[in-house]
Amino acid sequence: MIPLLDLKKQIAPIRADIDEAIKKVIDNTNFILGKEVEELEGEVTRYTGAKYAIGVSNGTDAIKLALIALGVEAGDGVICPAFTYYATAGAIASIGAMPVFTDIDPQTYNMTAHNLEITIRKKKRPKLKAVIPVHLYGQCADMGEILKVAKAYKLRVIEDTAQAFGAEYKGRKAGAIADCGSVSFFPGKNLGAFGDAGMVLTNNKTAADKIRLLRNQGNKAKYFHKVLGYNHRLDTLQAAVLKVKLRYLDGWNNKRRENAEYFNRQLNGLKIKTPFLAPHSSHIYHQYVLRLGASSAKVIEHLRSKGIDARIYYPVPLHLQQCFKYLGYKRGDFPEAEKASSQTLAIPVYPDLTKDEMDYIIASIKEFLG
Ligand SMILES: Cc1ncc(COP(=O)(O)O)c(C=O)c1O
Repeated sequence: MIPLLDLKKQIAPIRADIDEAIKKVIDNTNFILGKEVEELEGEVTRYTGAKYAIGVSNGTDAIKLALIALGVEAGDGVICPAFTYYATAGAIASIGAMPVFTDIDPQTYNMTAHNLEITIRKKKRPKLKAVIPVHLYGQCADMGEILKVAKAYKLRVIEDTAQAFGAEYKGRKAGAIADCGSVSFFPGKNLGAFGDAGMVLTNNKTAADKIRLLRNQGNKAKYFHKVLGYNHRLDTLQAAVLKVKLRYLDGWNNKRRENAEYFNRQLNGLKIKTPFLAPHSSHIYHQYVLRLGASSAKVIEHLRSKGIDARIYYPVPLHLQQCFKYLGYKRGDFPEAEKASSQTLAIPVYPDLTKDEMDYIIASIKEFLG
């Protein structure tokens, strides 16, 4: 079986460093907001260019805390793409705000400024406060254009950078461009912890201070709770693991890019579309996503029968998810999101994939396409 990601292969060569980092945390017993959390935050500010980085419990809570810090309240509308992982909209709904969906670009699968403006101008919608573009699969949405529209309508912007930590938009790191950027260090992400972990990036000191309070029970000083906060802290153990892995991230992302380029060359000219590269963004290929002109179910079935994991990210767009039925959307509302949810497939692209494995995947796709 060639899985979509093989973490054992990733961890093996750096195991000794990780064991040592974990051992240090255990020796110090500084499990909650220990020095590794602050050190990782510092390293991430240097890596991304964001002024502030606040370690939090996961990427979903990162969005939630950014929304609250930017003044989004229950009943407010927050625009996000109809085609993304559940958590983007789940975080909006978790504070009683209303997800307002918008369609995606059929080539990049990202939110577009044009669709954003159409959605903003719709009559029947809650009062809008913010917008969350998602850098899906590791490629940045067109932030310059999106920020222009957001500014014109006085909307705050959070970049959902869960899948794009390390990607660049016109030379700037994803997540460090808008009001806030939310990052997920879920184990399967390009930079993954050994459990749940996340971070909020921002250049706004007021927002950074608020998020620091919110993640730690609203504590200004111990047992003095300034605001209604949460337990959304990043574990010291996770920070220690991430500090080791961060050193390898650019190398891993480059290897993903090399693998993607190899697939692009070998699959060129076939009846399957390789990923579109937007000129404004680098791509870190969290997922390498192919596209057919019809349903991808049969090719996925074929690849699985050959022992190759392939999947659709994501098979049901958010406006058609049962949990969001109360928002009142119906099939046909976001045609591009709906098509993407049936015509795409992600194949393995992880850094440790061997040339033989890639050739086998390519041959299996060619066999299916005849
Ligand atoms: C686009 C997107 N947003 C948000 C999240 C949520 O991150 P987490 O699983 O760390 O809560 C994820 C990943 O799981 C994601 O892919």
